[in-house]
Amino acid sequence: MDIPETTPSTSSYGADLTRRALDLAMSSSTDMAESTLRVPLDYYRDDKLAELEQTRLLRGTPLALLASAQIPNNDDYVVRTVLDDSLLITRDRDGQTHVFLNYCRHRGAMPACGAGNARRFTCPYHAWVYDNTGKLRGVPGKAGFDDLDRSDYGLVELPSEERHGFIWAVLTADAPLDLDAHLGSFDDELARWRYQDFQYHDERHLESTVSWKGALEAFAEGYHFPFVHGNSVIGQNTIANTHVYDEYGPHHRIGFPFNWIRDLADKEPDATWDDPSAYMGLIYWIYPNLILANSPVGVEVIDILPAGSATRCTVRHSWMAKYPADTPEQTEMYAGIFAQVHAAVRDEDFAMLPQCGEGVRRGQHEHMVIGRNEIGVQHMVRVMAGHLGIALG
Ligand code: FES
Ligand SMILES: [Fe+2]
Repeated sequence: MDIPETTPSTSSYGADLTRRALDLAMSSSTDMAESTLRVPLDYYRDDKLAELEQTRLLRGTPLALLASAQIPNNDDYVVRTVLDDSLLITRDRDGQTHVFLNYCRHRGAMPACGAGNARRFTCPYHAWVYDNTGKLRGVPGKAGFDDLDRSDYGLVELPSEERHGFIWAVLTADAPLDLDAHLGSFDDELARWRYQDFQYHDERHLESTVSWKGALEAFAEGYHFPFVHGNSVIGQNTIANTHVYDEYGPHHRIGFPFNWIRDLADKEPDATWDDPSAYMGLIYWIYPNLILANSPVGVEVIDILPAGSATRCTVRHSWMAKYPADTPEQTEMYAGIFAQVHAAVRDEDFAMLPQCGEGVRRGQHEHMVIGRNEIGVQHMVRVMAGHLGIALG
């Protein structure tokens, strides 16, 4: 067998993306929208619209609620609150995942809390027992309920599916879940990363006085990088206001080239080009509420949801390692990486964003204006506004 002297580039996918980013970096330009976009302030601040978002955007759409890596073993579980609903997310003894409303069918207390490994959950009020497939298994003083069929009183299960390293669910019990339709061509793009093989590391939570949509938009443009992130690795490693942009139906991908991509100028593509994450930060928006920010060693999972009013949001920021740590030193190194990226989100983006919240609450101008260079933000606004039936200028 002939062995080539140099490894040829095998993936036109990666090499093409690297090439596009390099061309933009060398010409100091960026992918852009056709024109600027005007967005009425009410888009961000109207509480009536916020109610509509719950039904139209958030409770009928599959949400990637949890990384599979957070419940890697059979009988693992996590309780998570999403849009004020307490959810019990389990992996049963056969490895199948489930998402339940964590409300007892007796009188509504919460059978599970925290996270761990358990087959059964005992409600703290009268000790009804549920298993991790949601079945009601035990009722103390059962004579009091001897005319009930226990099989009718399991935990209410939400439609869910595990795919690409996440557990997706629709927050409405009888709603359909069609992930093929939701992801479309994005399905293949997500599959490339093999997030199911990543190792869950840690998470932090914060609340902020800014619209959840405005907060998501901070992860859809690099225009602010030198100003907000100038003193941290984001600002120092990336080329300002430069990005490669692609849409996948409602979702999008943005590549923010690192400075060192310029070293590829005048070079022939080689195998390193195939891994675009070596040359750019690749950030996905998974409609409606999730950001995946990829680095060569891991991924930040940033989940942003409204929190009780149009200009208040809750943020869950977690980090997963691409290469599982097998030594304490590696675990410590990952902790350092997560601390650093979380500090950028908390102390830089979310130090800035409450000002935008104040601007939309107090502003007396009619609209925001989103630049041609903020093409990802424009896409977010158009997709959301389209689902909400809002006309844009
Ligand atoms: S509310 Fe759960 S057992 Fe009574
Ligand atoms: Fe930022």
